[in-house]
Order: sequence, then structure tokens, then C-alpha cells
Amino acid sequence: MIVTVLGAQLGDEGKGNVIDLYGEPADVVVRYQGGDNHGHTVVVDGEEYEASQLPAGVARGAVSVIGNGCVVNLETLFDEIDSLQEQGLDPTVRVAKRAHVVLPYHRILDGATKDDDDVGTTGRGIGPTYGDKAARCGIRVGDLLDPETLRDRLEYAVPKNRATVEGFFGEETDEAFDVDRLFEIYREYGERLVEEGMPVDCGSYLQEHIDEGNEVMLQGAQGSALDMDYGTYPNVTSSNTSAGGACTGSGLSPSAIGKGEIIGVVKTYITRGANGRMPTELVGEGELASYIRDRGNEYVPKYTRDEGDEYGTIAGDPRRIGWLDMPMLRHADRVNGFTGIVVGHIDVLAGLDEIQVGHSYQIDGNETKTVPAANSEWDSCTVNYRQFEGWPDVDWSDVAQEGYEAIPENARTYLEYIETELDTPIYAVSVGPAREDTIILESPHE
Ligand code: IMP
Repeated sequence: MIVTVLGAQLGDEGKGNVIDLYGEPADVVVRYQGGDNHGHTVVVDGEEYEASQLPAGVARGAVSVIGNGCVVNLETLFDEIDSLQEQGLDPTVRVAKRAHVVLPYHRILDGATKDDDDVGTTGRGIGPTYGDKAARCGIRVGDLLDPETLRDRLEYAVPKNRATVEGFFGEETDEAFDVDRLFEIYREYGERLVEEGMPVDCGSYLQEHIDEGNEVMLQGAQGSALDMDYGTYPNVTSSNTSAGGACTGSGLSPSAIGKGEIIGVVKTYITRGANGRMPTELVGEGELASYIRDRGNEYVPKYTRDEGDEYGTIAGDPRRIGWLDMPMLRHADRVNGFTGIVVGHIDVLAGLDEIQVGHSYQIDGNETKTVPAANSEWDSCTVNYRQFEGWPDVDWSDVAQEGYEAIPENARTYLEYIETELDTPIYAVSVGPAREDTIILESPHE
């Protein structure tokens, strides 16, 4: 069975918990897109493990695979593996030979473009690495395994990127653009990859596991509304976060993935770490936004920029907060074909008298139930809200133990509204941050 889990909104929906929860039977956990612009903490037996390049599941003993749709920062990858080993774990990690490598100059380019756009990236070089991939001057994991190929690729790619930084951005370049230095560093990374048996042809490798009857979990990073094609372009990440990306980013076929489950993780409100469309944002409702933000502990995005990074303006800023956006969710449901959803953060909205939901948009006088495809349509978009009665703050651990019927009635009405609008069943509801705070209604593995 293949189970795909991905965020249905703007990232930070609580995917880590869901992967943790449903990941138990998984023999293999695969990241299919993104790089170290994503972060999650995995708690196993009270021990916390941090991972941004590795998939969740790494601490539980599942084989961890970085798929070919990912961009790999090898420094981060090896740091994470080393620190897991220091904590007494022995992770099995495989990296797709077709995955692209984030080089030091990609981070510089991510910073250099900062003045030029308002995307508010994580500064991890993600966009420039995917940019090189599309422009066919990227360097792949497989290129590191043969010194001659590596040198050839660097000699082709580095001058192009140097010319952009010097010519277009008018900045001086440093050792990050030194071909000889990069060659030595990345040749050594290649050697370590081989010594540890990590490079694989991802799709074939996963197929072998599937043929042996192993459970495979595909893990999305960021969220569907940050998808490069279906998200709020240009304020998106540079990869396909949606279920289509799970195919191209893992090497498994759409029919193989489609036979399994595709689970969307939904938060009862939305947050955004940076700029971009957000029609249901709580603008001018500071107190309300603070109430939700404080209870949801939404102050610091999970990713943080490097210390001393002059472009670092995001880390530590409160995330923007908005009411649940149903057009965004309907769009995600259609694009991804969710077989089930997990809804979390019910407890965060508790205590409010009234809860609003962006039920539909009004664009040029017409009601629309999904998101527009053109920026000019977004510009004229207003929101038609629906009101729901609030629910009380209760002992959520008791609720989690007692089950779905113990969820306050008004909260159940809210949940059932989401389920009906999407025509997709709720597989689980989480009422708190801990693993045991999730009420499971259906397991995708059964
Ligand atoms: P990039 O992925 O660093 O290129 O950033 C592009 C956009 O994606 C920015 O708006 C980031 O705030 C957003 N983003 C990237 N990673 C995450 C994440 O893990 N959670 C939420 N937003 C993210």
C-alpha cells in the first residue's frame, strides 16, 4: 500500500504529527519535493529529533528516501544523519541519483533575488536550485559519483550563476563560486554517499519494496497552496507540493500512487509565513488574530534563516492568520484527489463566540467556490463568509480519550461542514499537539 500525506493549505498544517501517526506501519518514508526549507520535530520515546532534509520516519527505523523531486543540501543531510547517530540511532537513508544538489551559490542567489521579489523565501537556495534544474544547468546527485562528470557539470553551471550574481545583481562573488573548491567538497560528498550505499534509482528502488509487500509513505512538504503550478503564484515554493509531485518526485507511476490513499492535512484556520494571497486574513482584527496565534503557538515558522543572514527577516515574525478558506481547500481537494482528510487544531479556536469561514469568493460580481487562476481575478476577489457558533474550551485530553462524540457539538458541526463541502471523509481529528491527542476514525493502512 502507498499512502501519500500532504498539506492541504499553506504549510504548517501539522503534517509531521499525521505522518508520525499513520507512519507507524510504513517500512519506507519518502520525501518527494522540497529541500531543507521544511522542518519537523519527531518525538520517539520522549526523545526529540529534528529533521529538515530527511523525511519524518527516520527516527522510527523506516528506510528514509529523498526522492528525485527533491533538492538536496548535502551539508544539512550529513549533519542530520550525524546528529541522529550521536543520539544512538542508525538511520537507513537512500538518495535519488536524479535529485538535484543545492550548492552554496544557490543560497547566495536566493538572497540576491531578495530585493527583487516579495516571495519571502526561506533563503535556503530552493528556487535557484530548481531554476537550474529547469534551465538544464543543475547538478544531480548522480553527477557527484563520477569526478569527471562533476567537474564538467561545475564548469558549465558555475560561470552561468556567477554571471547572474555579478552582472545582473551587481554583487561580488566569493569562494561559493570557486570551481576547484566546489569540486573537492562535492567529490568528497559523493564518496561518502557511495560508502554509505545511499544513491539509488528512486522509482525502481521503491518498486522493489512495493513488490516485496512493504508499506510506502510519500511525504509532502509545504502545502498545496504553495505548489508551483496550483498555488498562489508567484508566492509559492518552486516545486510541486501536490499529489502530482508525488509521482514525478518519487518515480512511482500515477496509477501506483492512485491505488493507495492520498491524505490531506487541514488546519481549522490558515497561516502564512510570508507574503501572498490570503483573502480570509484577519486584517485589522489584531486581538482575534493574537488569540488564535497565541493558542496555536504560531509565532515562529518552523524554518529559520541562518544566523547572521542579512536577508533574514522572516524567522521569529508572527505568522499571518486567517479564517479557514474553503475555496483554497476545495481547490486542494480537486487537484490532489484526497481520499481522506485529517483536521487538526480544533482546540486552538475554542473559546471564541463566533467562528467565520470563507465559504466562497466573489469575483467580478460572481460567486466562485474555488480559487481563481489569474492574478487579475485575485485582485478583485472578496470573501463570502459563513458564521459558525463557537465551542467551549474543554479538557481536550479527555476528549481525545473518549473519542469523536466527545468533541463539543459546535465543533462537530464545523467539522461536518468541511467534510460535506469537500465530499471527502475525515480520517482523523486532532485536538492537541501531542500524538495521543488525535482521534482516529479511519486508518489508511486497513
Ligand atoms: P522557498 O521554499 O524557500 O523558496 O520559499 C517560497 C515560499 O514558500 C515562501 O513564501 C515561504 O514562506 C514558503 N515556505 C517554504 N517552506 C515552508 C514551510 O515549510 N512552511 C510554510 N511555508 C513555507
